[in-house]
Amino acid sequence: MATLSSFAPLAILSLVLVISAIVFEAEARPRTFFVFGDSLVDNGNNNYLATTARADAPPYGIDYPPSHRPTGRFSNGYNIPDLISQRLGAEATLPYLSPELRGNKLLVGANFASAGIGILNDTGIQFINVIRMYRQLQYFKEYQNRVRAIIGASQTKSLVNQALVLITVGGNDFVNNYFLVPNSARSRQYPLPQYVKYLISEYQKLLQKLYDLGARRVLVTGTGPLGCVPSELAQRGRNGQCATELQQAAELFNPQLEQMLLQLNRKIGKDTFIAANTGKMHNNFVTNPQQFGFITSQIACCGQGPYNGLGLCTPLSNLCPNRDQYAFWDAFHPSEKANRLIVEEIMSGFKIYMNPMNLSTILALDAITT
Ligand SMILES: *[C@@H]1O[C@H](CO)[C@@H](O)[C@H](O)[C@H]1NC(C)=O
Ligand SMILES: *[C@@H]1O[C@H](CO)[C@@H](O)[C@H](O)[C@H]1NC(C)=O
Repeated sequence: MATLSSFAPLAILSLVLVISAIVFEAEARPRTFFVFGDSLVDNGNNNYLATTARADAPPYGIDYPPSHRPTGRFSNGYNIPDLISQRLGAEATLPYLSPELRGNKLLVGANFASAGIGILNDTGIQFINVIRMYRQLQYFKEYQNRVRAIIGASQTKSLVNQALVLITVGGNDFVNNYFLVPNSARSRQYPLPQYVKYLISEYQKLLQKLYDLGARRVLVTGTGPLGCVPSELAQRGRNGQCATELQQAAELFNPQLEQMLLQLNRKIGKDTFIAANTGKMHNNFVTNPQQFGFITSQIACCGQGPYNGLGLCTPLSNLCPNRDQYAFWDAFHPSEKANRLIVEEIMSGFKIYMNPMNLSTILALDAITT
């Protein structure tokens, strides 16, 4: 009798301790993060695929700590998802195809992005085996099944609903499709304005699917200044002027994307989709590189030919000594320094950059409401 009555409060106490430990653990875990899209946000999925679209040789990763080795990221160091993970207090998202992504690592999130892909299935066909958008979404579903087996259905649902999502796609639908070759199939099918409308309507379907799969906070970036990247300056630009047709493409695409996102939010009744105007952020250092500490926004750090813009960045390419002085790491992709500036704007930029709100506002709001 005596043993029982003294045991009961102890049992209750330890139950309380266990429960609060579980709650504490759930609260202490940084926000889960999912990434979808193309090479701007790929953390290394393509290293597991038979494709030419990969960043698996030096000097890629030359500033990536601690190894300073290539990881599959198209950057000298961190890319945009890495820097967002850091702001969340989380480890970097593992590529979905990485064998290390199992057990508790799954709760950090996952990176489904794949270099070379676009909104359309026929974008990047020359790269053969890449993870196209519809397949990234299938993997997201598969991911949720795997997590369900670990933490159960209702916990999985809230993990996904409370996660932050980043999606970056669309640039390749111009560079590696419409404008890839003169008289491309898509350019014969559509004049540019109609092509952009078609892209936006297909993108909307993908975002609706992402919502249906449980995503509730989604950062959607527009395309950068496509005509001003070193590759286009080398191939199409006249005397260092940005290539006009690609600039026109970005100028048509970005505002329509933003409108489409706001329209989706109205339909949903919540600010699920956040437009990140990375094009405008990038344009700032294209027009005034010195203001941001760059010596150039025209010449890539790694490459060859005019503006170091021809071919790939390889061990044989020219390589700049100080990567922080270059807005572009290779012929297409921003340097880590440029990525840092972009993520600063994503965190705390005004409404012209982040519509309807920036990431610090999102984090503050969601901390109150969940
Ligand atoms: C892309 O391909 C998948 C699989 O074949 C298909 O389900 C999807 O509708 C296609 N998307 C577009 C935009 O054609
Ligand atoms: C963006 O974030 C900062 C905090 O870093 C905040 O002061 C500012 O008002 C925010 N701007 C908008 C438009 O949400």
